[in-house]
Amino acid sequence: MIKRKSKREIGRMQEAGRLLANVHKEIKSMIKPGITTMDIENFVDDYLHKHGATAEQKGYQGYEYATCASINDEICHGFPRKEPLKTGDIVTVDMVVNLDGALADSAWTHTVGEIDADTQKLLDVTKTSLYKGIEQARIGNRIGDIGHAIQSYVEAEGYSVVRDFTGHGIGETIHEDPYIPHFGEAGKGMRLKEGMVITIEPMVNVGGWESRMDTNNWTARTLDGTLSAQYEHTVAITKDGPLIMTEHNEQ
Ligand code: MF3
Ligand code: CO
Repeated sequence: MIKRKSKREIGRMQEAGRLLANVHKEIKSMIKPGITTMDIENFVDDYLHKHGATAEQKGYQGYEYATCASINDEICHGFPRKEPLKTGDIVTVDMVVNLDGALADSAWTHTVGEIDADTQKLLDVTKTSLYKGIEQARIGNRIGDIGHAIQSYVEAEGYSVVRDFTGHGIGETIHEDPYIPHFGEAGKGMRLKEGMVITIEPMVNVGGWESRMDTNNWTARTLDGTLSAQYEHTVAITKDGPLIMTEHNEQ
C-alpha cells in the first residue's frame, strides 16, 4: 500500500532531512586517514541525540548501529568497525534520522585522503546518476523512468548498477511501497503521484552488478571485488517537481 503524505508531513520530513544533511557535512569534515567507522558511528549517535533526534536504523530488523559504513568493495549495510580508514579508501555512510517521528534517509560516499582519478570518476558518475534519477521523479512519470535514466547513464560510462537493492517509499517506517529499482525501462511501472516520498539510492560498481552476502548476513559486496559507490536522497513528489529533502548543498 502506498501512503501519500500531506504538505505538513512533507514539511516535517524536510526538517529531519535538513538535520541529516548537516550530519553528512560534519562527517565529510571529520574523515581522514586513521579515523574509524566506529568513530563516525559514535559521532552520529551523539549528534542526533544532541539535536533531539534518534537513529532509526538502530534496532531496525535487528540491525545494531545508527549508521551503515560500507568500505571499498562493500555495496551496502557494512557494520561500523574499529579498523582505521586508509588513504585511498572510499566509504559510504548511510543513515536514517527520526525527528519527532518524521524520517529521512540519505547515503553519501566519502573519500579518505587522496584518491586516484578512476575512483573519483566512479564517485562523480554515481552522484550524477542520482540526480538523473531525481529529475524523473515527477507527477505522471513512471517508476521505470527513474531506473532507466540511472541505468542508461551509468552503463554508458562503463559501470554497472546494483540490482539486489532498490530505493523505496519512506514514511512512518524506513521501507514502504513502492520499491524503486535503479534499472529498468522508460514508460514502465506505476505512475508517480503527488505526495509520494521515496528514496533514490543508486549503488554503482566498477565491475559487474552481482553481489554476494557476507557471513554477517547484512553486508553485501561486489562479487568481483571491484569498488562500489552510492549516493542517496529522500525525495518528495510535488506539484513543483522533485523536492530533495536531504540536500547537502555541496557537489
Ligand atoms: N538506509 C538504508 C536504505 O537506504 C536502510 C538500511 S536498513 C538497516 O534503505 F537495517 F541497515 F538499517
Ligand atoms: Co539509506
